[in-house]
Amino acid sequence: MKMNIVCIPGDGIGPEIVAQARAVLDSVADIYGHEITYQDVLMGGASIDVHGIPLTDEAIADARAADAVLMGSIGGDTTKSPWYQLPPDKRPEAGLLKIRKALNLFANLRPAVLYEELADACPLCSEVRQGGFDMLIMRELTGGLYFGERKTYTENGMRHAVDTLTYSEEEIRRIAIKGFEIARKRRKKVTSVDKANVLDSSRLWRAVVNEVAGEYPDVTLSHMLVDNCAMQLVRDPAQFDVILTENMFGDILSDEASMVTGSIGMLASASLNDTKFGLYEPSHGSAPDIAGQDIANPIATILSASMMLRYSFDLDKEADAVDRAVKAVLQEGWRTADIMSEGCRRAGCSEMGRLIAEHIRQQ
Ligand code: IPM
Ligand code: MG
Repeated sequence: MKMNIVCIPGDGIGPEIVAQARAVLDSVADIYGHEITYQDVLMGGASIDVHGIPLTDEAIADARAADAVLMGSIGGDTTKSPWYQLPPDKRPEAGLLKIRKALNLFANLRPAVLYEELADACPLCSEVRQGGFDMLIMRELTGGLYFGERKTYTENGMRHAVDTLTYSEEEIRRIAIKGFEIARKRRKKVTSVDKANVLDSSRLWRAVVNEVAGEYPDVTLSHMLVDNCAMQLVRDPAQFDVILTENMFGDILSDEASMVTGSIGMLASASLNDTKFGLYEPSHGSAPDIAGQDIANPIATILSASMMLRYSFDLDKEADAVDRAVKAVLQEGWRTADIMSEGCRRAGCSEMGRLIAEHIRQQ
């Protein structure tokens, strides 16, 4: 297969981790006889430094023309970096929001899995984590509060700020369908998370999700309020299969879920539209404090590349090979600094990438 991939290395550790994901994809291409072409595109701070804005129209056009986008991470230290002296719509994060909207990437899949090999890193007590957990947060990504009208103004000498949260039934329906479809391939359980005891947008959310559920009688649906969900994630994470939720709740809960696994450096994500196109990126940020030291964990990006093979190219066998290689390297005791534990072998970012790529060649 021919794959045209746009890479957005981005900022901080982004370039290092993307380089390792590419090394892994290259070994997949060699072994399974595929052809990959890469094109690098600037976004975030890297784009601000060159173009003065976090995402150019050319960059969007390049991404749109590709089969899929592999991203590292964007952004810098918000207290120190000059990028954060710019107006909000010129900062690195604005580039990410813009590309999501421009490419209609409304479905954000964030798996949060407790890896057996890394169970000790899980901050939950052993009774709670025993048996493990494996959930997927399906976050609506192009609507709600992050894309509503907002303004800051002064009235009678008093400053005010307003953000608006709007959802149409169509926006809710399409993400709900994605949630139920993926649940069908998993444990067939959807927990839809909202704040329907307060918000109108949540009451519409609940109503539309119930309608969609009618089409999926084989999938069990339950509803949960977001504050309760935040609590349940640390009380009993194994109860969740697919968590279906709107943009801001998904943003917050997915960070919580990743922390609960204890290994945020391991968690991948996919942002999809209604075609096979997707943008794949690790769930973690750009970690500017450790950038350029070859100590970052590239596994989340490598697993994001695996999601790309699976969702954009339907290459399940190849994706399985990547996932297996990651597990094998962990089983051999290799660890980057963030997941290091006693008795394990320390690997840097490039070493970890090399080991995983090597495993794919040996399988
Ligand atoms: C994420 C990030 C982004 C978001 C920021 C950087 C705009 O936190 O991908 O979760 O809130 O969506
Ligand atoms: Mg976030």
